[in-house]
Order: sequence, then structure tokens, then C-alpha cells
Amino acid sequence: MHVGSGSVVDPAGRWYPAAIRIGVMELHADLSQRAVLDTTSLPWSPSPMAGVMRRMLDRSGGEVARATSVVRYAPGSRFERHVHNGGEEILVLEGTFSDEEGNYPAGFYLRNPAGSSHAPFSDQGCTILVKLQQMQPADQQQLVIDTNNGGWVPGLVRGLEVMPLHASGSEHVALVRWAPRTVFQPHGHPGGEEILVLDGVFQDEHGSYPAGTWLRNPPGSVHRPWSEAGCTIWVKTGHLVVTVGRQGWEAAAAPPAKTSTRPPLP
Ligand SMILES: [Fe+2]
Ligand SMILES: [Fe+2]
Repeated sequence: MHVGSGSVVDPAGRWYPAAIRIGVMELHADLSQRAVLDTTSLPWSPSPMAGVMRRMLDRSGGEVARATSVVRYAPGSRFERHVHNGGEEILVLEGTFSDEEGNYPAGFYLRNPAGSSHAPFSDQGCTILVKLQQMQPADQQQLVIDTNNGGWVPGLVRGLEVMPLHASGSEHVALVRWAPRTVFQPHGHPGGEEILVLDGVFQDEHGSYPAGTWLRNPPGSVHRPWSEAGCTIWVKTGHLVVTVGRQGWEAAAAPPAKTSTRPPLP
């Protein structure tokens, strides 16, 4: 329902301010810098569509930007039809996200390649992680993976399980599950690493990262991770050396490397 000038109240009685469009923004935009954010405590900012709010994690550009965000759809809200010029990558965190192709409950991982388009909505409401304009133009694989259906394989050390989600060039995406008291060996990230902690507490020598923490380790960084309590993380590696500039891959400094089958490191 609409109240006032463009404001909305969802069926649960939550109020959302009028939709806005933002100007050019640089937020954690330097991919050579480490970033650690507690996504659960970031403010919700209005999006161009009333009822669709976002927590900005990194951003370079205007309303159309290379951006990583946690986006929340109020029940019954929808987003205008749009084309993904630089691709769109989504992990559904809560509720059910939908578009004209289907419904995607929590745990679905989606990749909409460069040039694809859709008109998304959510009947019951949802929260999703979204990465925009960070996909190789040549990576045209459309993916819809229900991570609730299994697909876990043993990791490199005891207590670690991996669910590979995608590999293209130097980029690898996976879920990684850590049993309590699992310790991984020291390792580097030539192409950087990005993590969202989904449950439990992830740790390394630089800090302790509870569920909801978004972590970006720059290219060339090194760490020795472990988890005392156990955790599940969404992890993406090898992508931070090439997603440069406001136009993402269009301004990439290096061509994508050959696809490798090496699993991502946590
Ligand atoms: Fe989209
Ligand atoms: Fe790592």
C-alpha cells in the first residue's frame, strides 16, 4: 500500500521511504584495499523502487554501478525490468526472490550473464546478496543452483566441505562449510578473495567474523583461516584483479585467464 508521497507500508506494517536515485558514489571501491563490514548493522538505503532497500558494501558509479549490495525486497515489491550490462550474481539469503523465470528461495545461487534482462519481484519478501557489473562478457553461463540440494565435496583439510558453484577464468565461487575447530593452512590470494559469512563464526589471524560479515581480502593478501565454532561461508576468489573501473569487465586491465578446475581456497 502507498502512503504519503511515494512511501510504502508492507503487509507486516514496515514503512519504507520514497524511492530515490543516487549520484556517483565511491564506496570501498578500491579493490586493492581490504574491507570488513558487519552487513547486519549497515543502514538500509532506498533504491529506485519503493519497497526495495539496500545495504551498500562496495560501489563505484551512479545508479548503474559496479556494486556489491545486500538488497531487501518488502513483501509484494518489485523492481523495474532491467538489462544486466555487466552481469548479475545473486545469493538468496532469506525469503523467496522471484522473476518471470521462477521462484528462488533462500539458498539459491543465480548468475544472470551480461546482456540478460528480467523483472524481479518478491511476493513474501526476501533478502539477497547481489553483485552487479563484475562478470566477464565471455562468461555467458546462466546458472540457477539450489544449494539446499547438496553437492558438498571434501575440502583440502579434515573438517572442511566445499560446494563449487561456478568457475570461469581465474574466478571461482563456492560455499565452504567448516566443522568446529577446523584449521586451514596459510595461503595467498593472487586474485583476491571475497567472503560472506552465512552462519557461525569464521576467523583468521586478522580478526573474527560472525554471521553477516562481508570480508574482502585484496590481491596478494595472505592469511591462515580457522573456525573454532564452525561456520558456513560464501567465498569467491580470483576476481579482484580484473573487475576494475566503473564499467567493470569492460574496463578490465587483463584478459580472463583459461578456466582452471582448481577449487577455491577459503
Ligand atoms: Fe537483475
Ligand atoms: Fe583465503
